[in-house]
Amino acid sequence: MSSTSIQSVLQETRLFPPPADFAEGAKVGSMAAYEALYERAATDPEGFWAEIASELRWDRPWTQVLDWKLPDARWFVGGQLNLAANCVDRHAASWRRNKAAILFEGEPGDTRVITYGQLHRDVQRAANALLDLGVAKGDFVAIYMPMIPEAAIAMLACARIGAPHTVVFGGFSAEALRDRIADSRAKVVITADGGWRRGQVIPLKDNVDRAIEGTTIERVLVVKRCANAIAWHGPRDVWWHDAMAAAAPRHDAPPHDSEHTLFSLYTSGTTGKPKGILHTTGGYLTNAAYTTRLVFDLRDEDVFWCTADIGWVTGHSYVVYGPLANGATTLMYEGAPNQPGLDRFWDIIERWGVTVFYTAPTAIRAFMRWGDEHPAKHDLSSLRLLGSVGEPINPEAWMWYRKAIGGDRCPIVDTWWQTETGAIMISPLPGATPTKPGSATRPLPGIAADIVRKDGTPCGVNEGGFLVVRRPWPSMLRTIFGDHERFVTTYFSEVDGCYFAGDGARRDEDGYFWIMGRVDDVINVAGHRLSTMEVESALVSHPKVAEAAVVGRPDELKGQAIVAFVTPRSGVVANEELAKELREHVVAQIGALARPEDLRFAEALPKTRSGKIMRRLLREIASGSQSRGDTTTLEDQGVLERLASTFAQEE
Ligand code: WTA
Repeated sequence: MSSTSIQSVLQETRLFPPPADFAEGAKVGSMAAYEALYERAATDPEGFWAEIASELRWDRPWTQVLDWKLPDARWFVGGQLNLAANCVDRHAASWRRNKAAILFEGEPGDTRVITYGQLHRDVQRAANALLDLGVAKGDFVAIYMPMIPEAAIAMLACARIGAPHTVVFGGFSAEALRDRIADSRAKVVITADGGWRRGQVIPLKDNVDRAIEGTTIERVLVVKRCANAIAWHGPRDVWWHDAMAAAAPRHDAPPHDSEHTLFSLYTSGTTGKPKGILHTTGGYLTNAAYTTRLVFDLRDEDVFWCTADIGWVTGHSYVVYGPLANGATTLMYEGAPNQPGLDRFWDIIERWGVTVFYTAPTAIRAFMRWGDEHPAKHDLSSLRLLGSVGEPINPEAWMWYRKAIGGDRCPIVDTWWQTETGAIMISPLPGATPTKPGSATRPLPGIAADIVRKDGTPCGVNEGGFLVVRRPWPSMLRTIFGDHERFVTTYFSEVDGCYFAGDGARRDEDGYFWIMGRVDDVINVAGHRLSTMEVESALVSHPKVAEAAVVGRPDELKGQAIVAFVTPRSGVVANEELAKELREHVVAQIGALARPEDLRFAEALPKTRSGKIMRRLLREIASGSQSRGDTTTLEDQGVLERLASTFAQEE
């Protein structure tokens, strides 16, 4: 669809009301019902959340719903529960015993269906296997795996025995894995010999071998997936299938404190060092379960497919914990969307009868570019709801998604949230909220989101400001692992008394939120969160680099692309070969997701008199914009001119 016709569509019908038949059976079926629920939650937040939490199975009831001493919140204090028992055992003991919990499709085309009964058996054995390896309650376990059922089983087994997990995305390099293992001080890492991606084997076990030398890792548990040749270091290395066979079949789920650490997940902040976002058990599960039910209007007969990798928070909350807590059927796909053909996702939807599909705008834009003929080849009529997450979705992609994938029938939920929030915060409710392409619409009941000025006063209609949350919610991060100070300064020091999300936003005349992107040095590349500092540190760790500055520039497909400005050390020849070497160096330090799209050499970087790199200028140069704004503080005006002209020439 051309952009002019998109424009006219938007002007004609800016609002997409929920389909009438959808609203009828929905949990929240009208805006009036939404507003009543929002109001109720705002008036009595503790009563509201307690009611939701009571849908979980608690071994011991809480004595206090919320203990809030800004910025520290503890939820369901004194309560005890087992997360795995909530996600697995209680369904295995119900009519859902033979219902599919996990539908799995590997990239090569192999499939598995795991029922709740089977999942219960697997998780019990896996819990015993971890105990046999010496993992005790409170010990961290690193998980570096492909998207296979064992990844979910491993997470659930950790939760079951109270060993916090830290899942590291399989696309991260050995170096990045080492940093995360070192920070979490994990004792055991669970991995696979490899994982399939675009027909190739990702050498996960090799990366683990390189990452763990000199770390706290004592044992490596290895799932056989690709049967590729790997180095074996017995007795440190143990095959998953051997450990499972040797483990006792029964494991009674012990109760854990509501505030017991469930996991830490590393994400990029504004410095070079990724931070371990820490979540606890009761509050996290309450909100993961609640949002899955409400935002996706979950039904027992759904086939729920969230395409995120378990290495990201979206995979934690909407591939594993949210759907399983509700006894839903979750689909896991291991590989790439274009393997073997550009219609792989649509083929999966058709063959498995997927009803809810949740993916990222980057993927949607790629599908759009690949062409309508790929989804058109498949019967997508099983779909009833579409979701989007991870970055702002541009109206054109939204419209395409609605039409080409949703057949103009399915509502779209554009969900705003973060690793830190643990669960969806701002989103339409599919049976209630009329949607506008590009807006995440309104906060969920229980979420006191607001948009404020620097001084904390609320912004007016359509005035851009900082996105904040005024009250704690159950799945709020509790700290940054090992650095509570950084937690306080990052999230609770920018705007007095509020959680500061780091995003800019505005609210329109209907009270709809429009997320405008990050207000810090975090960039969002293809839905992956990266800090410019992290990429800079990777570059300057190369012996030929004196200085580097990294910025994001708008990219049609990825949302943002990485542009690096590099000053080589004196005597080093700056040429295409060096550029290639540096790009590969970043890949080795972080992973392919951080490879700079553009790498430019500069004799010097533009700095203020106080020596700060002028990123705003670099951003403007990188995106080819003309205006240079106020440059009077520039140390050396010539540096800028030379940079701008190098860029223009090579463009
Ligand atoms: C961005 C992913 C606009 C935002 C769940 C946020 C979004 C960051 C949306 C968190 C959305 C996420 N619209 N922007 N619907 N969803 N973001 O921690 O900048 O990987 O701060 O969590 O992604 O990224 P994270």
